[in-house]
Amino acid sequence: MPIRKSYTTARRSPPAKPRAVVKPRAVTGSPKPGAIDDAVAAGFYRDLVWNLRNGVLAVTRDGRIAVMNEVAYRILALPPRTTDIGRPFTQVLKDQPDVSRIVAGAFELSHLPNRAELRLKSTGKVIGYTLSQVRDNRGRITGATLFFKDLTRVEQLEERERLRDRLAALGEMAAAIAHEVKNPLAGIEVMAGVLKRQLPDSEDAQSILRDIIKEAKMANAIVLEVLDFVRPIRLQVERVSLADVVRDAISMAESHISRGQVQVQVSMPEDLAPLQGDPHQLRQLFTNLLTNAFEALGGTGLVQIATKQLPAEEEPSAGAETAVPMIQIEVTDNGPGIPADVMERIFSPFFTTKPQGSGLGLAIVRKIVDAHDGRIDVSARPEGGTRFRVTVPVVGSHQLFR
Ligand SMILES: Nc1ncnc2c1ncn2[C@@H]1O[C@H](COP(=O)(O)OP(=O)(O)OP(=O)(O)O)[C@@H](O)[C@H]1O
Ligand SMILES: [Mg+2]
Repeated sequence: MPIRKSYTTARRSPPAKPRAVVKPRAVTGSPKPGAIDDAVAAGFYRDLVWNLRNGVLAVTRDGRIAVMNEVAYRILALPPRTTDIGRPFTQVLKDQPDVSRIVAGAFELSHLPNRAELRLKSTGKVIGYTLSQVRDNRGRITGATLFFKDLTRVEQLEERERLRDRLAALGEMAAAIAHEVKNPLAGIEVMAGVLKRQLPDSEDAQSILRDIIKEAKMANAIVLEVLDFVRPIRLQVERVSLADVVRDAISMAESHISRGQVQVQVSMPEDLAPLQGDPHQLRQLFTNLLTNAFEALGGTGLVQIATKQLPAEEEPSAGAETAVPMIQIEVTDNGPGIPADVMERIFSPFFTTKPQGSGLGLAIVRKIVDAHDGRIDVSARPEGGTRFRVTVPVVGSHQLFR
């Protein structure tokens, strides 16, 4: 996914313009520091910065950390340490060289990025940031601040919107074609039936007509499958026990393909919160993932289903900043894995590498995850095999905004 680079830039100088009123010496437009100190308690600024919901990182002109709030530590995946204050930022941020480079740029660039984006190499997270210089009341540069926010979830929501649009367009076309094809197919089947009755004595004709009817039925089944896939999902939401869903999904997958010697291990905390979702759809989701895993393993191997609750996440959709607890379910197999050049396409409808596959299994999985306001990632395990990670909110927006 392309990362938008800086789309606006702020000029480094001159320093902030004077405010409207104005004595000549009020060059920076700032109130006198003394006046603020009198009105505001000493620790106010520290508390303010610490409690901001954006990451704040400030460094002094000689390159030492002056401020780094809790959100900054969390986004940058660094352990919070009060001893970092005063240390060179290049040392504190040594595992985040991209961020270090941006901060250093505050003293070198003539245009400072305002609302730029960056994908952190270390974690894959996308951050949106603004870089500013700190100036004293005489306009001298005394430091720099990086103000940033984790945009990973926003990116995922945007990606989901794009996918929804793509599927909607594809769905409309597929539905139109399927509809057009359905009637002639039914006609072929009926007419072949009529002919079969009219030629009872010709064994050759009977055999050919049986094949025609069989093929027409198969084509009709595909058309129905496509129509089913492109129809929007209407969730029948209720309290769902994931343990029940997973248990049922294992038996459903076993009914599609023989599991052979494949072991299935399920780990699920006893106190896992029940989810608000559609049990039928969720069962379908895990059935499809497990069917793929069993198919990949071909009779021997291990499938692990691991579930855990994640801390509440901010839900940026619709501007609502609501913290929503999430549940993460991983389905991992130790099969041959998915080749890197195929990885990008596995969720696309009709993509399959199997002779008998329709290629709709994962497209349906994605659609169901999407309808539950969740997300799904796939990764190759370093030791071989595939891991699908589904993350769904305990309560999706389909419930929040009802
Ligand atoms: N666990 C897995 N291990 C290896 N490859 C996988 C795994 N899961 C999916 N794939 C790959 O992704 C492709 C798409 O999967 P998907 O479930 O969408 O379709 P399918 O299994 O081929 O057909 P269908 O599910 O419609 O019968 C598969 O053909 C396979 O190449
Ligand atoms: Mg499949």
